Amino acid sequence: MTVAALALALPRRTEDRLLADIVEHGHAIVARAATVSDLLDVLSEGTPDVVIAGAARDTLSAGLIAACDARGIRLIALAETDADRRHAVGLGLFEVLDASAAWSEIQSLIIGGIVIPSRIEDPSPPVAASRTGSARAGTARTGTARTGTVIAVWGPAGSPGRTTLAINIAAEIAAAGHTVVLADIDTYSGSVAPTLGMLDEAPGFAAACRLAGSDSLTRSELERIAQRYASPSGAFWVLTGIGRPSRWPELSGERVTRTIDALRHWVDYVVLDTGFSLESDEEISSDLFAPRRNAATLAGLRECDHVVACGLADPVGMSRFLRAWVDLAEVITTDRVSVVMNRVRSSAVGLDPRGQVVQALRRFGGIESAVLVPQDQQGADAAVLAGRTLRDAAPKSPARVRIRRFVRAELLPVPAQVITRRRGRVWWRRAETAS
Ligand SMILES: Nc1ncnc2c1ncn2[C@@H]1O[C@H](COP(=O)(O)OP(=O)(O)O)[C@@H](O)[C@H]1O
Ligand SMILES: [Mg+2]
Repeated sequence: MTVAALALALPRRTEDRLLADIVEHGHAIVARAATVSDLLDVLSEGTPDVVIAGAARDTLSAGLIAACDARGIRLIALAETDADRRHAVGLGLFEVLDASAAWSEIQSLIIGGIVIPSRIEDPSPPVAASRTGSARAGTARTGTARTGTVIAVWGPAGSPGRTTLAINIAAEIAAAGHTVVLADIDTYSGSVAPTLGMLDEAPGFAAACRLAGSDSLTRSELERIAQRYASPSGAFWVLTGIGRPSRWPELSGERVTRTIDALRHWVDYVVLDTGFSLESDEEISSDLFAPRRNAATLAGLRECDHVVACGLADPVGMSRFLRAWVDLAEVITTDRVSVVMNRVRSSAVGLDPRGQVVQALRRFGGIESAVLVPQDQQGADAAVLAGRTLRDAAPKSPARVRIRRFVRAELLPVPAQVITRRRGRVWWRRAETAS
Protein backbone atom coordinates (compact mmCIF):
# COMPACT_ATOMS: atom_id res chain seq x y z
CA MET A 1 0.00 0.00 0.00
CA THR A 2 1.33 3.40 -0.94
CA VAL A 3 1.88 5.73 1.97
CA ALA A 4 1.60 9.38 1.10
CA ALA A 5 2.51 12.63 2.81
CA LEU A 6 -0.68 14.69 2.73
CA ALA A 7 -1.37 18.39 3.11
CA LEU A 8 -5.03 19.13 3.87
CA ALA A 9 -7.07 22.27 3.38
CA LEU A 10 -10.59 21.05 4.11
CA PRO A 11 -13.64 22.23 6.03
CA ARG A 12 -13.52 20.91 9.58
CA ARG A 13 -16.29 18.38 9.27
CA THR A 14 -14.86 16.84 6.07
CA GLU A 15 -11.46 16.50 7.66
CA ASP A 16 -12.95 14.97 10.82
CA ARG A 17 -14.82 12.46 8.74
CA LEU A 18 -11.71 11.34 6.82
CA LEU A 19 -9.15 11.47 9.59
CA ALA A 20 -9.54 7.97 10.99
CA ASP A 21 -9.24 6.39 7.54
CA ILE A 22 -6.21 8.46 6.62
CA VAL A 23 -4.41 7.37 9.77
CA GLU A 24 -5.56 3.77 9.49
CA HIS A 25 -4.12 3.51 6.00
CA GLY A 26 -0.77 4.75 7.26
CA HIS A 27 -0.72 8.11 5.47
CA ALA A 28 0.95 11.03 7.16
CA ILE A 29 -0.67 14.45 7.43
CA VAL A 30 2.31 16.78 7.11
CA ALA A 31 0.37 20.04 7.09
CA ARG A 32 -3.04 21.63 7.52
CA ALA A 33 -4.06 24.90 5.96
CA ALA A 34 -7.15 27.09 5.98
CA THR A 35 -6.64 29.21 2.86
CA VAL A 36 -4.86 29.20 -0.46
CA SER A 37 -2.12 31.45 0.86
CA ASP A 38 -1.56 29.13 3.86
CA LEU A 39 -1.31 26.24 1.43
CA LEU A 40 1.22 28.07 -0.72
CA ASP A 41 3.32 28.65 2.41
CA VAL A 42 3.12 24.94 3.19
CA LEU A 43 4.25 24.06 -0.33
CA SER A 44 7.26 26.32 -0.16
CA GLU A 45 8.32 24.79 3.16
CA GLY A 46 7.68 21.09 2.92
CA THR A 47 7.03 18.56 0.24
CA PRO A 48 3.72 16.78 0.53
CA ASP A 49 3.07 14.12 -2.10
CA VAL A 50 -0.55 15.08 -2.31
CA VAL A 51 -2.65 18.13 -1.47
CA ILE A 52 -6.33 17.54 -0.70
CA ALA A 53 -8.16 20.85 -0.75
CA GLY A 54 -11.73 22.03 -0.70
CA ALA A 55 -12.84 23.03 -4.20
CA ALA A 56 -14.16 26.41 -3.07
CA ARG A 57 -12.47 29.67 -3.99
CA ASP A 58 -10.83 30.18 -0.62
CA THR A 59 -8.85 26.93 -0.83
CA LEU A 60 -8.42 26.39 -4.57
CA SER A 61 -6.96 28.82 -7.10
CA ALA A 62 -5.09 28.81 -10.40
CA GLY A 63 -1.99 29.88 -8.47
CA LEU A 64 -2.23 26.83 -6.22
CA ILE A 65 -2.59 24.50 -9.22
CA ALA A 66 0.44 26.11 -10.87
CA ALA A 67 2.45 25.81 -7.64
CA CYS A 68 1.57 22.10 -7.37
CA ASP A 69 2.43 21.62 -11.04
CA ALA A 70 5.78 23.29 -10.62
CA ARG A 71 6.61 20.99 -7.70
CA GLY A 72 5.13 17.81 -9.11
CA ILE A 73 2.60 17.57 -6.29
CA ARG A 74 -0.69 15.83 -6.88
CA LEU A 75 -3.76 17.96 -6.13
CA ILE A 76 -7.20 16.57 -5.39
CA ALA A 77 -10.21 18.80 -4.71
CA LEU A 78 -13.32 17.91 -2.72
CA ALA A 79 -16.43 19.80 -3.78
CA GLU A 80 -19.16 20.66 -1.26
CA THR A 81 -21.45 22.18 -3.89
CA ASP A 82 -22.00 22.26 -7.65
CA ALA A 83 -20.55 25.76 -7.72
CA ASP A 84 -17.35 24.46 -6.09
CA ARG A 85 -17.12 21.69 -8.64
CA ARG A 86 -17.59 24.15 -11.52
CA HIS A 87 -14.90 26.35 -10.03
CA ALA A 88 -12.39 23.45 -9.93
CA VAL A 89 -13.19 22.17 -13.40
CA GLY A 90 -13.07 25.73 -14.71
CA LEU A 91 -9.48 25.92 -13.48
CA GLY A 92 -8.68 22.76 -15.42
CA LEU A 93 -8.56 20.42 -12.42
CA PHE A 94 -10.07 17.01 -13.08
CA GLU A 95 -9.30 15.35 -9.81
CA VAL A 96 -12.50 16.54 -8.18
CA LEU A 97 -14.67 14.35 -5.93
CA ASP A 98 -17.75 15.09 -3.86
CA ALA A 99 -16.94 16.19 -0.34
CA SER A 100 -18.96 13.19 0.84
CA ALA A 101 -16.70 10.72 -1.00
CA ALA A 102 -15.43 7.78 0.99
CA TRP A 103 -11.69 7.67 1.73
CA SER A 104 -11.37 4.59 -0.47
CA GLU A 105 -12.52 6.68 -3.44
CA ILE A 106 -10.04 9.45 -2.71
CA GLN A 107 -7.29 6.92 -2.20
CA SER A 108 -8.00 5.13 -5.44
CA LEU A 109 -7.70 8.49 -7.18
CA ILE A 110 -4.35 9.07 -5.52
CA ILE A 111 -3.04 5.62 -6.38
CA GLY A 112 -4.98 5.04 -9.56
CA GLY A 113 -4.04 8.43 -10.91
CA ILE A 114 -0.41 7.73 -10.52
CA VAL A 115 -0.02 4.06 -11.17
CA ILE A 116 -2.87 3.20 -13.46
CA PRO A 117 -3.24 6.04 -15.92
CA SER A 118 -6.50 4.82 -17.41
CA ARG A 119 -8.31 5.30 -14.10
CA ILE A 120 -8.39 9.08 -14.30
CA GLU A 121 -8.04 9.62 -18.01
CA ASP A 122 -10.92 11.15 -19.85
CA PRO A 123 -12.82 8.44 -21.66
CA SER A 124 -12.82 10.14 -25.06
CA PRO A 125 -10.00 9.08 -27.37
CA PRO A 126 -7.35 11.61 -28.38
CA VAL A 127 -7.85 13.47 -31.61
CA ALA A 128 -6.10 11.40 -34.24
CA ALA A 129 -2.97 13.16 -35.39
CA SER A 130 -2.16 12.74 -39.06
CA ARG A 131 1.42 12.18 -40.06
CA THR A 132 3.33 12.93 -43.18
CA GLY A 133 5.26 9.68 -42.94
CA SER A 134 7.91 11.48 -44.91
CA ALA A 135 11.55 11.89 -44.08
CA ARG A 136 11.34 15.59 -44.81
CA ALA A 137 9.39 17.77 -42.45
CA GLY A 138 6.80 20.14 -43.83
CA THR A 139 5.48 17.87 -46.56
CA ALA A 140 1.83 18.49 -47.34
CA ARG A 141 -0.52 16.16 -45.54
CA THR A 142 -3.11 14.06 -47.23
CA GLY A 143 -6.75 14.02 -46.28
CA THR A 144 -7.43 16.37 -43.38
CA ALA A 145 -6.91 20.12 -43.40
CA ARG A 146 -3.30 21.15 -43.38
CA THR A 147 -1.89 21.55 -39.92
CA GLY A 148 1.48 22.46 -38.49
CA THR A 149 4.55 20.27 -38.59
CA VAL A 150 5.90 18.83 -35.36
CA ILE A 151 9.65 18.43 -34.88
CA ALA A 152 10.93 16.61 -31.78
CA VAL A 153 14.51 17.20 -30.68
CA TRP A 154 15.70 14.17 -28.78
CA GLY A 155 19.01 12.82 -27.53
CA PRO A 156 20.38 10.49 -24.85
CA ALA A 157 21.46 11.46 -21.33
CA GLY A 158 24.57 13.57 -20.92
CA SER A 159 23.42 16.94 -22.26
CA PRO A 160 24.11 16.45 -25.96
CA GLY A 161 22.56 19.82 -26.75
CA ARG A 162 18.84 19.10 -27.14
CA THR A 163 17.78 22.42 -25.67
CA THR A 164 20.37 24.39 -27.64
CA LEU A 165 19.26 22.72 -30.86
CA ALA A 166 15.54 23.05 -30.12
CA ILE A 167 15.82 26.77 -29.33
CA ASN A 168 17.89 27.53 -32.38
CA ILE A 169 15.84 25.38 -34.72
CA ALA A 170 12.74 27.29 -33.51
CA ALA A 171 14.55 30.59 -34.05
CA GLU A 172 15.65 29.79 -37.59
CA ILE A 173 12.21 28.54 -38.61
CA ALA A 174 10.61 31.68 -37.15
CA ALA A 175 13.14 33.83 -39.00
CA ALA A 176 12.06 32.15 -42.25
CA GLY A 177 8.62 33.65 -41.68
CA HIS A 178 6.69 30.79 -40.06
CA THR A 179 4.74 30.81 -36.82
CA VAL A 180 6.46 28.61 -34.26
CA VAL A 181 5.94 27.32 -30.74
CA LEU A 182 8.80 25.80 -28.79
CA ALA A 183 7.50 23.46 -26.08
CA ASP A 184 9.69 22.20 -23.25
CA ILE A 185 8.54 18.63 -22.58
CA ASP A 186 11.79 17.52 -20.95
CA THR A 187 10.42 16.27 -17.64
CA TYR A 188 13.86 15.56 -16.23
CA SER A 189 15.63 18.86 -16.65
CA GLY A 190 13.41 21.33 -18.43
CA SER A 191 15.67 24.26 -19.20
CA VAL A 192 14.23 26.26 -22.06
CA ALA A 193 12.99 29.01 -19.70
CA PRO A 194 16.29 29.63 -17.92
CA THR A 195 18.22 29.37 -21.18
CA LEU A 196 16.05 32.09 -22.71
CA GLY A 197 15.91 34.15 -19.52
CA MET A 198 12.19 33.56 -19.03
CA LEU A 199 10.16 33.10 -15.88
CA ASP A 200 9.11 29.53 -15.26
CA GLU A 201 7.01 29.87 -12.14
CA ALA A 202 4.02 28.37 -13.91
CA PRO A 203 4.98 25.68 -16.39
CA GLY A 204 3.23 26.56 -19.65
CA PHE A 205 3.28 23.06 -21.06
CA ALA A 206 1.67 21.60 -17.94
CA ALA A 207 -1.03 24.27 -18.06
CA ALA A 208 -1.65 23.39 -21.71
CA CYS A 209 -1.95 19.70 -20.80
CA ARG A 210 -4.58 20.47 -18.17
CA LEU A 211 -6.61 22.51 -20.60
CA ALA A 212 -6.23 19.90 -23.33
CA GLY A 213 -7.67 17.34 -20.95
CA SER A 214 -10.90 19.32 -20.74
CA ASP A 215 -10.95 20.18 -24.46
CA SER A 216 -10.54 23.86 -23.64
CA LEU A 217 -7.10 24.42 -25.10
CA THR A 218 -8.19 27.20 -27.44
CA ARG A 219 -6.03 29.62 -29.38
CA SER A 220 -6.70 32.43 -26.90
CA GLU A 221 -5.84 30.16 -23.95
CA LEU A 222 -2.60 29.22 -25.69
CA GLU A 223 -1.74 32.87 -26.24
CA ARG A 224 -2.43 33.47 -22.55
CA ILE A 225 -0.25 30.70 -21.14
CA ALA A 226 2.60 30.79 -23.68
CA GLN A 227 5.40 33.31 -23.35
CA ARG A 228 6.81 35.14 -26.31
CA TYR A 229 10.49 35.16 -27.26
CA ALA A 230 10.67 38.61 -28.79
CA SER A 231 13.12 39.24 -31.58
CA PRO A 232 13.15 41.54 -34.60
CA SER A 233 14.49 38.68 -36.72
CA GLY A 234 11.76 36.20 -35.83
CA ALA A 235 9.73 35.94 -32.62
CA PHE A 236 8.26 32.66 -31.43
CA TRP A 237 6.03 31.28 -28.69
CA VAL A 238 7.43 29.29 -25.78
CA LEU A 239 5.65 26.84 -23.50
CA THR A 240 8.00 26.50 -20.56
CA GLY A 241 8.67 23.23 -18.79
CA ILE A 242 8.59 21.79 -15.33
CA GLY A 243 11.13 22.96 -12.81
CA ARG A 244 10.73 20.22 -10.21
CA PRO A 245 10.04 16.98 -11.97
CA SER A 246 10.10 14.56 -9.04
CA ARG A 247 6.50 13.36 -9.27
CA TRP A 248 4.64 14.45 -12.26
CA PRO A 249 1.06 13.26 -12.43
CA GLU A 250 -0.34 15.43 -15.20
CA LEU A 251 1.74 14.62 -18.24
CA SER A 252 0.00 11.41 -19.20
CA GLY A 253 0.62 10.29 -22.75
CA GLU A 254 -2.92 11.04 -23.77
CA ARG A 255 -2.88 14.63 -22.55
CA VAL A 256 0.48 15.25 -24.16
CA THR A 257 -0.84 13.82 -27.41
CA ARG A 258 -3.89 16.07 -27.29
CA THR A 259 -1.77 19.08 -26.46
CA ILE A 260 0.59 18.47 -29.36
CA ASP A 261 -2.40 18.12 -31.64
CA ALA A 262 -3.78 21.45 -30.43
CA LEU A 263 -0.39 23.08 -30.94
CA ARG A 264 -0.18 21.93 -34.54
CA HIS A 265 -3.55 23.52 -35.16
CA TRP A 266 -2.25 26.76 -33.70
CA VAL A 267 1.08 27.37 -35.50
CA ASP A 268 3.02 26.29 -38.60
CA TYR A 269 5.79 24.53 -36.66
CA VAL A 270 5.89 22.93 -33.23
CA VAL A 271 9.39 22.26 -31.87
CA LEU A 272 9.58 19.89 -28.88
CA ASP A 273 12.54 19.81 -26.51
CA THR A 274 12.17 16.26 -25.16
CA GLY A 275 13.63 14.27 -22.28
CA PHE A 276 16.12 11.48 -22.87
CA SER A 277 14.54 8.39 -21.35
CA LEU A 278 12.61 6.04 -23.61
CA GLU A 279 11.62 3.57 -20.91
CA SER A 280 7.89 3.28 -20.73
CA ASP A 281 6.63 4.14 -17.30
CA GLU A 282 4.76 0.88 -16.86
CA GLU A 283 8.15 -0.80 -16.79
CA ILE A 284 9.23 1.25 -13.80
CA SER A 285 7.28 -0.47 -11.07
CA SER A 286 9.60 -0.38 -8.09
CA ASP A 287 8.11 2.85 -6.75
CA LEU A 288 4.38 3.47 -6.81
CA PHE A 289 5.01 7.18 -6.98
CA ALA A 290 7.39 6.57 -9.87
CA PRO A 291 7.09 9.42 -12.29
CA ARG A 292 5.01 9.15 -15.40
CA ARG A 293 7.38 11.60 -16.88
CA ASN A 294 8.65 9.53 -19.78
CA ALA A 295 5.14 9.54 -21.21
CA ALA A 296 5.75 13.05 -22.49
CA THR A 297 8.90 12.17 -24.44
CA LEU A 298 7.36 8.97 -25.82
CA ALA A 299 4.19 10.76 -26.91
CA GLY A 300 6.24 13.58 -28.46
CA LEU A 301 8.30 11.10 -30.48
CA ARG A 302 5.25 9.16 -31.62
CA GLU A 303 3.24 12.21 -32.60
CA CYS A 304 5.92 14.18 -34.38
CA ASP A 305 6.57 14.34 -38.11
CA HIS A 306 10.30 14.60 -37.80
CA VAL A 307 12.85 13.71 -35.12
CA VAL A 308 16.15 15.49 -34.69
CA ALA A 309 18.29 12.98 -32.79
CA CYS A 310 21.38 14.54 -31.33
CA GLY A 311 24.49 13.19 -29.67
CA LEU A 312 27.80 14.50 -28.45
CA ALA A 313 30.68 14.07 -30.87
CA ASP A 314 33.15 12.60 -28.42
CA PRO A 315 33.84 8.93 -27.59
CA VAL A 316 31.52 8.81 -24.56
CA GLY A 317 28.76 10.84 -26.17
CA MET A 318 28.89 8.72 -29.33
CA SER A 319 28.67 5.43 -27.48
CA ARG A 320 25.72 6.75 -25.49
CA PHE A 321 24.10 7.93 -28.67
CA LEU A 322 24.59 4.63 -30.49
CA ARG A 323 23.14 2.64 -27.61
CA ALA A 324 20.14 4.95 -27.38
CA TRP A 325 19.73 4.85 -31.15
CA VAL A 326 18.79 1.17 -30.88
CA ASP A 327 16.09 2.06 -28.32
CA LEU A 328 14.85 4.93 -30.46
CA ALA A 329 14.36 2.56 -33.38
CA GLU A 330 11.96 0.57 -31.23
CA VAL A 331 9.80 3.62 -30.61
CA ILE A 332 9.73 5.18 -34.08
CA THR A 333 10.79 4.40 -37.61
CA THR A 334 14.13 6.00 -38.21
CA ASP A 335 13.32 7.20 -41.71
CA ARG A 336 11.94 10.40 -40.26
CA VAL A 337 15.03 11.14 -38.22
CA SER A 338 17.87 13.57 -38.83
CA VAL A 339 21.00 12.75 -36.89
CA VAL A 340 22.95 15.72 -35.52
CA MET A 341 26.31 15.25 -33.84
CA ASN A 342 27.06 18.26 -31.70
CA ARG A 343 30.24 19.89 -30.42
CA VAL A 344 32.48 18.28 -33.05
CA ARG A 345 36.12 18.96 -32.15
CA SER A 346 39.49 17.42 -32.73
CA SER A 347 40.54 17.78 -29.10
CA ALA A 348 38.11 14.99 -28.17
CA VAL A 349 38.42 12.62 -31.13
CA GLY A 350 41.77 13.36 -32.76
CA LEU A 351 42.66 14.33 -36.28
CA ASP A 352 39.89 14.75 -38.84
CA PRO A 353 37.10 14.79 -36.25
CA ARG A 354 34.36 15.06 -38.87
CA GLY A 355 35.59 12.02 -40.75
CA GLN A 356 35.98 10.04 -37.52
CA VAL A 357 32.47 10.86 -36.34
CA VAL A 358 30.91 10.02 -39.68
CA GLN A 359 32.81 6.75 -39.86
CA ALA A 360 31.83 5.69 -36.34
CA LEU A 361 28.16 6.41 -37.01
CA ARG A 362 28.28 4.37 -40.20
CA ARG A 363 30.20 1.45 -38.76
CA PHE A 364 28.45 1.07 -35.44
CA GLY A 365 25.02 2.48 -36.11
CA GLY A 366 24.46 2.02 -39.84
CA ILE A 367 23.81 5.76 -39.97
CA GLU A 368 24.69 7.03 -43.41
CA SER A 369 24.39 10.76 -42.99
CA ALA A 370 24.65 13.18 -40.14
CA VAL A 371 24.75 16.89 -39.59
CA LEU A 372 27.92 17.92 -37.79
CA VAL A 373 27.65 20.97 -35.55
CA PRO A 374 31.05 22.25 -34.46
CA GLN A 375 32.17 22.92 -30.91
CA ASP A 376 31.45 26.62 -30.45
CA GLN A 377 32.11 27.68 -26.90
CA GLN A 378 32.07 31.39 -27.69
CA GLY A 379 28.77 31.31 -29.50
CA ALA A 380 27.07 29.04 -26.94
CA ASP A 381 28.30 31.12 -24.01
CA ALA A 382 27.28 34.41 -25.61
CA ALA A 383 23.77 33.05 -26.15
CA VAL A 384 23.42 31.67 -22.61
CA LEU A 385 24.81 34.84 -21.06
CA ALA A 386 22.35 37.04 -22.92
CA GLY A 387 19.42 34.61 -22.67
CA ARG A 388 19.05 34.88 -26.45
CA THR A 389 19.16 32.58 -29.47
CA LEU A 390 22.43 32.11 -31.36
CA ARG A 391 20.85 34.03 -34.20
CA ASP A 392 20.40 37.05 -31.93
CA ALA A 393 23.47 36.75 -29.71
CA ALA A 394 26.13 35.38 -32.08
CA PRO A 395 24.80 35.39 -35.64
CA LYS A 396 28.17 34.62 -37.22
CA SER A 397 29.09 31.83 -34.85
CA PRO A 398 29.95 28.50 -36.49
CA ALA A 399 27.27 26.55 -34.60
CA ARG A 400 24.55 28.99 -35.64
CA VAL A 401 25.65 28.92 -39.27
CA ARG A 402 25.53 25.10 -39.33
CA ILE A 403 22.16 24.88 -37.56
CA ARG A 404 20.67 27.43 -39.96
CA ARG A 405 21.89 25.46 -42.96
CA PHE A 406 20.43 22.26 -41.51
CA VAL A 407 17.06 23.89 -40.84
CA ARG A 408 16.84 25.25 -44.36
CA ALA A 409 17.97 22.05 -46.01
CA GLU A 410 16.16 19.41 -44.00
CA LEU A 411 13.36 20.93 -41.99
CA LEU A 412 11.85 23.63 -44.16
CA PRO A 413 10.26 22.94 -47.53
CA VAL A 414 12.57 23.69 -50.44
CA PRO A 415 11.37 26.84 -52.26
CA ALA A 416 10.04 25.85 -55.69
CA GLN A 417 12.34 28.08 -57.75
CA VAL A 418 15.41 26.74 -56.00
CA ILE A 419 14.49 23.19 -56.96
CA THR A 420 14.06 24.14 -60.61
CA ARG A 421 17.24 26.12 -60.76
CA ARG A 422 19.31 23.46 -59.09
CA ARG A 423 17.72 20.36 -60.50
CA GLY A 424 20.22 17.53 -60.52
CA ARG A 425 22.61 19.29 -58.20
CA VAL A 426 21.47 18.39 -54.77
CA TRP A 427 24.84 18.19 -53.07
CA TRP A 428 24.10 21.30 -51.07
CA ARG A 429 20.98 19.79 -49.58
CA ARG A 430 22.53 16.59 -48.45
CA ALA A 431 23.67 16.04 -44.92
CA GLU A 432 27.38 15.61 -44.58
CA THR A 433 28.85 12.21 -45.28
CA ALA A 434 32.33 10.83 -45.46
CA SER A 435 32.39 10.89 -49.26
N1 LIG B 1 27.95 23.38 -30.31
C1 LIG B 1 28.19 23.72 -29.03
N2 LIG B 1 29.38 24.25 -28.66
C2 LIG B 1 29.64 24.58 -27.37
N3 LIG B 1 28.77 24.45 -26.37
C3 LIG B 1 27.56 23.93 -26.65
C4 LIG B 1 27.20 23.55 -27.98
N4 LIG B 1 25.94 23.07 -27.95
C5 LIG B 1 25.52 23.14 -26.66
N5 LIG B 1 26.49 23.67 -25.88
C6 LIG B 1 26.44 23.90 -24.42
O1 LIG B 1 26.29 22.65 -23.78
C7 LIG B 1 25.52 22.75 -22.61
C8 LIG B 1 24.39 21.74 -22.65
O2 LIG B 1 23.52 22.04 -23.73
P1 LIG B 1 21.96 21.82 -23.67
O3 LIG B 1 21.42 22.26 -24.97
O4 LIG B 1 21.39 22.45 -22.45
O5 LIG B 1 21.90 20.25 -23.54
P2 LIG B 1 20.68 19.26 -23.22
O6 LIG B 1 19.41 20.02 -23.47
O7 LIG B 1 20.86 18.10 -24.14
O8 LIG B 1 20.82 18.88 -21.78
C9 LIG B 1 25.04 24.19 -22.57
O9 LIG B 1 25.84 24.91 -21.67
C10 LIG B 1 25.23 24.68 -23.98
O10 LIG B 1 25.48 26.07 -24.02
MG1 LIG C 1 17.80 20.36 -22.13
